[in-house]
Amino acid sequence: MGIEEALPVRLREQLRDDLIAQGDEFVLGIPKVELHVHLEGTLTAELRWKLTQRNGTKLRIAKNGPELKTLEEMQVAMDLLRPDPSRVDNDEERFQFFEAYYEGFECLKTKEDFFDLAMHYFEHAAKMNVRYCELFFDPQGHTSRGVGWDTMMVGFREARQQAEADLNVKSAYIMCFLRDLSPSSAMEHYKAALPYRDTIIGIGLDSNETDRPPTLFDEVFTLARRDGFKLTMHCDVGSKNTHEHIRQAASVVAGAGLDRIDHGLNAAEDQSLIDMIVKRDVGMTICPWSYLRHTTFAELGPKIRKLYDAGIKISINSDDPAYMEDCWVLENMLLAKRLCAFDDKDVARLAKNAVHSSWAEPAVKERLLREIGAVCGRFYPEK
Ligand code: HPA
Ligand code: ZN
Repeated sequence: MGIEEALPVRLREQLRDDLIAQGDEFVLGIPKVELHVHLEGTLTAELRWKLTQRNGTKLRIAKNGPELKTLEEMQVAMDLLRPDPSRVDNDEERFQFFEAYYEGFECLKTKEDFFDLAMHYFEHAAKMNVRYCELFFDPQGHTSRGVGWDTMMVGFREARQQAEADLNVKSAYIMCFLRDLSPSSAMEHYKAALPYRDTIIGIGLDSNETDRPPTLFDEVFTLARRDGFKLTMHCDVGSKNTHEHIRQAASVVAGAGLDRIDHGLNAAEDQSLIDMIVKRDVGMTICPWSYLRHTTFAELGPKIRKLYDAGIKISINSDDPAYMEDCWVLENMLLAKRLCAFDDKDVARLAKNAVHSSWAEPAVKERLLREIGAVCGRFYPEK
């Protein structure tokens, strides 16, 4: 995959600043739908510091790492974690990412913490004109630390209500199972979550994908579909057996395949996968900034473009902004525009793709599409 040619951290930061400095009013102004962001991946060093101070928990970058005593130490540790071709290879970087990502969970203890985590995202989202979002969370990473379901779900539910009332941001949550844990743990958590189904719209699968194919979790996903949940799974870029994992996600799991695929960029290398995804009209959530860290600039744009040109409903999303040069959905859309030479019409189509492949109520989708149309009309009035 050419890690030696991927952009180093300093150049990624320059690119981010350059994209923002362009002042692209259309990309900023267009109403957005975000479908792929891990709430725990929005835990910035600053938010972690705040929650740690409040709870008296210990701050570490990894489970066995030294205790960090100041916000500045945390910022330096998170900076050092970001992949740089001069520092680590792909596999090592992923291992380090997951270690740090799960260690970050330690600062989440109370209902207020889960509320604050979600509100922190919603406040950021509102500034970027995100109008609707579906947010991932990883309950197994919390129950394993003794956090109760009410603590998580009531905090998330209240934040959702406040964001809609005060910020005009609608949302729903997607409960992800950790694929490196057992299918029986996933099933146990699925059953425990049922009392909170008013707050959970869909079921996802994330964490370390190596040797953990989608079909391993078929039973719980089949049950969830029968119970009325929407379904998605990660097919991380460059994972072992990624084409087979994409095939299972698109056409095998839960009878005939899932409702969406998260990432799945490697489908661009296999026409039969592209054809199947088009035929089943499976939306794909693409997070360009996260691929930029492992892929060369030159090879990334054509892959995204290929999926888009094939007619797949790809949407642009942020994934784990706190670990990705502080790049949120706005920066990801700006990057996609540059990488793929998209024009404003394409940007509008990407925004509409996200609406169509979201799981919002039909009336909400209609309103979002009207809002997107209104912004397009303001920038490009019909003569
Ligand atoms: N891949 C898989 N699982 C994850 C990720 C990711 O990038 N971020 C949070 N959970
Ligand atoms: Zn993800």
